[in-house]
Amino acid sequence: MSVLEISDLIVAWDPATPTREPVFATDVIERLRCAGDHRAARIVQRMPAEAGVLEPESVDRLLVRVHTELQRLGEELHMAQRFAELLGPVLAVTRSAGSRSLRVVDIGCGVGYVIRALAATGVLGADVELLGVDMNPVLVAEASRLAVAEGLRCDFMCADAFALDEDATVYISSGVLHHFSADALASFFRAQDRPGTAAFVHYDIAATRLAPVGAWVFHRARMREPLGRHDGVASARRAHGDGTLLAAARQASGMEIFLFEPVRHTNPFCAGMRPVLGIRPELVLGLRHALGRRAKGLVGTGGVHTPTRARR
Ligand SMILES: C[S@@+](CC[C@H](N)C(=O)[O-])C[C@H]1O[C@@H](n2cnc3c(N)ncnc32)[C@H](O)[C@@H]1O
Repeated sequence: MSVLEISDLIVAWDPATPTREPVFATDVIERLRCAGDHRAARIVQRMPAEAGVLEPESVDRLLVRVHTELQRLGEELHMAQRFAELLGPVLAVTRSAGSRSLRVVDIGCGVGYVIRALAATGVLGADVELLGVDMNPVLVAEASRLAVAEGLRCDFMCADAFALDEDATVYISSGVLHHFSADALASFFRAQDRPGTAAFVHYDIAATRLAPVGAWVFHRARMREPLGRHDGVASARRAHGDGTLLAAARQASGMEIFLFEPVRHTNPFCAGMRPVLGIRPELVLGLRHALGRRAKGLVGTGGVHTPTRARR
């Protein structure tokens, strides 16, 4: 049976315009019930609706609250530092290879925590432009508002991960891959194999057997919103296995693909977020040098045989 996240169902934007489409509570409740998730159905049942349509302002406020709680989780997991530790070496080898204008684009940035944290510390260097994109204009507006309030040099805009106009030296994301079906992942990665792009670094939940239990404890302790608690566990249940991720990432055929600290090298009790990394083959040696001892954590596509979890 498919695992659904409430946050994917309660809002609908046409990413091309972006125009908001009405979401009928009964449709969402029916989908959740059909998926056997009666608890999620009850959460949606309690949400305000007018003439059967979920109230947009209330949905928006809820999603901003949940993403703000998600930021706290990101802070606790040191997501910005983890990105910086990989992006620093990736950008260093890209600079050495002659790239002048460097740009990092965070896909599905939510309220923009990672991009804002990288901008606040300036850890990647003043020559690196930072941009966050998300298909939800409300989250983009909140990310922009926070960046202005914090006096940061970074930008946010609406974009669909599958129709990206924005060029990047490195594309990144955190907690986004599991929102896409295994079939859609290939086109997600392929779209980032474009001229001028040196690499991508996409962090998501490692699909261990204990990940849902860990997610339950973590989200119970750290999140107040029932939707956030529900979706946190659903995310861990939906997480793609290493095999699925690597097979999809290999569709970016101009990149060499690695997992960094992949599941089989970690304690299943601690495995949390780990990235799939794609990088131009000519930059791999330089990256290994720049990573130093940490290069041991890079495992190429030949080295991982974790079975894909059957789902959806
Ligand atoms: C779990 S949240 C992660 C947010 C943020 N990266 C973080 O770590 O806090 C997933 C985000 O992906 C966005 N998203 C989902 N599908 C997308 C798509 N096709 N294009 C762009 N953003 C998308 C959602 O709007 C949401 O903000």
